[in-house]
Amino acid sequence: MTTTYNSIKSLREALKPLRADKKIALVPTMGNLHQGHISLVKLAKQHADIVVVSIFVNPTQFGVGEDLDSYPRTLEADTEKLIEVEADYIFAPTVDEMYPIMPPPTQVLAGSISQMLCGKSRPTHFDGVGIVVTKLFNIVQPDVAIFGKKDYQQLAIIKQLVRDLSFDIQLIGGPIVRAEDGLALSSRNQYLTETERAAAPELHKAVQDLAVKLQSGRATSETALQSLIEESITAINAKGFKVDYLEVRNQDLTPITEFAGKQSWVIAVAAWLGKARLLDNQEVDI
Ligand code: PAJ
Repeated sequence: MTTTYNSIKSLREALKPLRADKKIALVPTMGNLHQGHISLVKLAKQHADIVVVSIFVNPTQFGVGEDLDSYPRTLEADTEKLIEVEADYIFAPTVDEMYPIMPPPTQVLAGSISQMLCGKSRPTHFDGVGIVVTKLFNIVQPDVAIFGKKDYQQLAIIKQLVRDLSFDIQLIGGPIVRAEDGLALSSRNQYLTETERAAAPELHKAVQDLAVKLQSGRATSETALQSLIEESITAINAKGFKVDYLEVRNQDLTPITEFAGKQSWVIAVAAWLGKARLLDNQEVDI
């Protein structure tokens, strides 16, 4: 059975007796669930006895002029999907429940990792993610928490959060779920017009092309890597996107300084297509 709670107190009371002998997993979401989210719930079920899915459009992670008001809120349809996949608890609090004072005076800052990549154009975004995830961890106190690799930087920041604040939580990163044509599933894909939707998979294709070039050993130096990146940005922009950033980094998001030998890199990209800012990434092991 799937039960929904809106208050922190009632969820805590429901979970309390289960803690002694059950493993609890948390899957944080902002709702408008698609197969990407559902894959995380399925992964959670493999790692725990009880699965809690939070649905909360978190205002503190939206910047001024971003899509907080228009972000799709579809709790009824989300609940049906979660019943189907047999999630145990849905935690769907109001903004007042999560933030008695808005904006909350207490902050959770992630430092330099939150200012790079997506943080350059969304400088306060990951601080908002930091506080809401900290609160969810404290409310649910899960044994396991599942995040998608689609938001690669978010996962890296949450790894840092768990380490630095000593959360006793095992983090698991779920693989990116894509549409058949390769576009990474995202709630924001519905901002695309039909023509834009048809062009959208080009972003993933360009990332794959760059991955092939990296795997064939063409990034022998900083300069060589930079020129491959430039080529890729030009190709993406030529398809009607406006690249926000495209970077190749080590998988912990530190800058690449070693080009010889075995390397584990990640290509991370954000690009505007009409009103939608699309994210994608690919790990490349060389
Ligand atoms: P949201 O965008 O709803 O995503 C919830 C979780 O689903 C995140 O861990 C995200 O990485 C994962 N996800 C989204 N699309 C995916 C896809 N195509 N494949 C695999 N996983 C995917 O990310 C957030 O919400 C918020 O920032 C949150 C962590 C809930 C904090 O408010």
